[in-house]
Amino acid sequence: MSAEHVALVTGGGGGIGAVVCSELGRMGAFVLVAGRDQQGCTRVADEVRAAGGAGAPLLLDVTDPASIATALQDASRLAGPPDWLVNNAGIAVSAPLVARPADSPVDQYETHMDVNFHGARRVFEAVLPAMLERGYGRVVQVASSAALQGYAYVAAYAASKHALLGYSRAAALELQRKGVAVNAVCPHFVDSPMTDESVARIVRETGRTEAAARAFLAEQNPSGELVTTAEVAHAISELLATDMTGSIIELVGGGGRREVEAGWPLGEARG
Ligand SMILES: NC(=O)c1ccc[n+]([C@@H]2O[C@H](COP(=O)([O-])OP(=O)(O)OC[C@H]3O[C@@H](n4cnc5c(N)ncnc54)[C@H](OP(=O)(O)O)[C@@H]3O)[C@@H](O)[C@H]2O)c1
Repeated sequence: MSAEHVALVTGGGGGIGAVVCSELGRMGAFVLVAGRDQQGCTRVADEVRAAGGAGAPLLLDVTDPASIATALQDASRLAGPPDWLVNNAGIAVSAPLVARPADSPVDQYETHMDVNFHGARRVFEAVLPAMLERGYGRVVQVASSAALQGYAYVAAYAASKHALLGYSRAAALELQRKGVAVNAVCPHFVDSPMTDESVARIVRETGRTEAAARAFLAEQNPSGELVTTAEVAHAISELLATDMTGSIIELVGGGGRREVEAGWPLGEARG
């Protein structure tokens, strides 16, 4: 394996994750396309290789510690321990603040925390020891604008993404002298399958047309446009390539960005 970096991308089999995998493949990393959907991950890994990069699919369920342990063993065999991690796997289910059991048999708060917060935390903590041993690691958390503000009907999602961002801020401080950078992106609504689900729900519940529902979501973004998956992938790849830590980048659509927190060079003590 001659790639300079081994990149683990969770939820790599589709949506934003798939575009991130392509970009990291072009940057010369060995890309581990990780997720529950073996078919999707295999297809994306094939695309990375067809474009001249290196990569492999990795079966991974971020809610299952045994699955994470097995995936990391497989990763080491295929490419070596990951030194780049993109914590991208996530779920978003809309529901009223207090869901009636008849509407929602599962507790959406527990489910969202399990995937979006604990899932990302579990994978991070599993790859961290090897990063610390090497004195080098780059982690990008795919949070959300819902980590910075609230939206109606997604309290569970917003809570889990706020938790992820809080954890990441603390981790950046704790690891700043140890060579491991922790940065985050916070996209507003992205043109991806997750937003397609929201569009379908609005159509179902309000009778709006699909175009009107999509336009409504785009209007929620500060730019009035959906963020593209390419914009998210580009911001992530830039953060992986820097020596900054603690950066939080908000992606507002139309190519626009806001620096929520500028971050600081690794090795410089803050806080
Ligand atoms: N779309 C947006 O508007 C938006 C905005 C801000 C932030 N984000 C964040 O961006 C990330 C990617 O979302 P997306 O828009 O690309 O949506 P997506 O297409 O639904 O992608 C989510 C990915 O997460 C994976 N995943 C879910 N649960 C998993 C688990 N337990 N273990 C492993 N993988 C799991 C899914 O794979 P499976 O096939 O296994 O379900 C899928 O590949 C998410 O963290 C999301 O919260 C999205």
